[in-house]
Amino acid sequence: MVYLDYAATSPLLPEVIKAMHEAEQKYFANASALHTPGHLSMNKIEETRELLAKLINADLDEIIFTSGASESNNTVIRTFENHEIITSPLEHHSIIESAKELGGNKKPTLYSYMYANNEIGELLLTEDIVKEAHTKGGYIHSDLTQALGKVQLDVKALDLDYATFSAHKIGGPIGVGALYVRKGLPFKPLIIGGNQEKHRRGSTYNTVGIIGFDAALKYVLKNETWKVYNTKIRKLRDILAERILAEIPGSSLNTDLNNSLPNILNASFEAAEGESIQLYLDAEGIIVSTGSACASGDIKPSHVLMAKTGDAEVAHSSIRFSFGLDNTEKDIEKVMEVLPKVIDRLQKISTVERRTK
Ligand SMILES: Cc1ncc(COP(=O)(O)O)c(C=O)c1O
Repeated sequence: MVYLDYAATSPLLPEVIKAMHEAEQKYFANASALHTPGHLSMNKIEETRELLAKLINADLDEIIFTSGASESNNTVIRTFENHEIITSPLEHHSIIESAKELGGNKKPTLYSYMYANNEIGELLLTEDIVKEAHTKGGYIHSDLTQALGKVQLDVKALDLDYATFSAHKIGGPIGVGALYVRKGLPFKPLIIGGNQEKHRRGSTYNTVGIIGFDAALKYVLKNETWKVYNTKIRKLRDILAERILAEIPGSSLNTDLNNSLPNILNASFEAAEGESIQLYLDAEGIIVSTGSACASGDIKPSHVLMAKTGDAEVAHSSIRFSFGLDNTEKDIEKVMEVLPKVIDRLQKISTVERRTK
């Protein structure tokens, strides 16, 4: 199988599987309990907190463990309920939908700009936005989900007030994430009714999941994965982009190769429907996605591609290739053996006219 859907989720790293398997037997106790097994569980959670804090340059009590990026995003927006919320139109649904529902006109304003978009990889968090938020007396939140492990992150250098993380995009388990909250800033828990995380997030600790997150973070730090992404993976991604444009008539890129994460490539293919391309590739063992996996099953064109291109046809004919550290040149060969034939077949049977010939 050629797996090119790492931005949707990444397979568990072997180190993560081992750590979680061990944890299920050794660290089963409720981490809030005062007995010895409880303390042992809590120690592992605190080790993970230290590791994440070190990786992103935060203080320990600035990190709250959550069930993932969606929860972290929802928590920040809920904190600013009835406030003015300014976001980029390319944010994840967990920001867009909750801002729509909860936003108002109270001040201070919350700005929420993801570091990098999950569908096209575009880098969205700029120094200017951070400065604007602060000079206007507001706060800045950034969803760092896709950026973690792909670029070096320092929440202090970025001058962020809130930041969101998820374990499953870096080889950790689904259902674990974190929220960075700069010391002393407004915070309202989303889940109340428990004293965990210093009363900031109720619910029994997901010790095994957090230990899995720990193993994935260790892998990121040990291998300085951001360097590998920026060299080996960027090269692979760029080769695929170049070959698609050269070898497939009617193809175009939705990703700006010079202003994107190194592992995401989104392309459109005239007169070929994204879902059909995906299914034909799947039948040949090539796994990709159309737009965002979170939005699949939804027949509306991707909000990200619509915001970028304003063109439903481009959005409906798009495919996202997202790379992980295991991908090789052989994978690109396989894609380019199959993809041109798939597109040709779909274009021939399409009722939609190709715009360029
Ligand atoms: C940018 C971004 N934010 C949030 C999420 C949601 O993450 P989680 O599955 O941890 O809730 C995702 C992944 O789907 C994402 O790519």
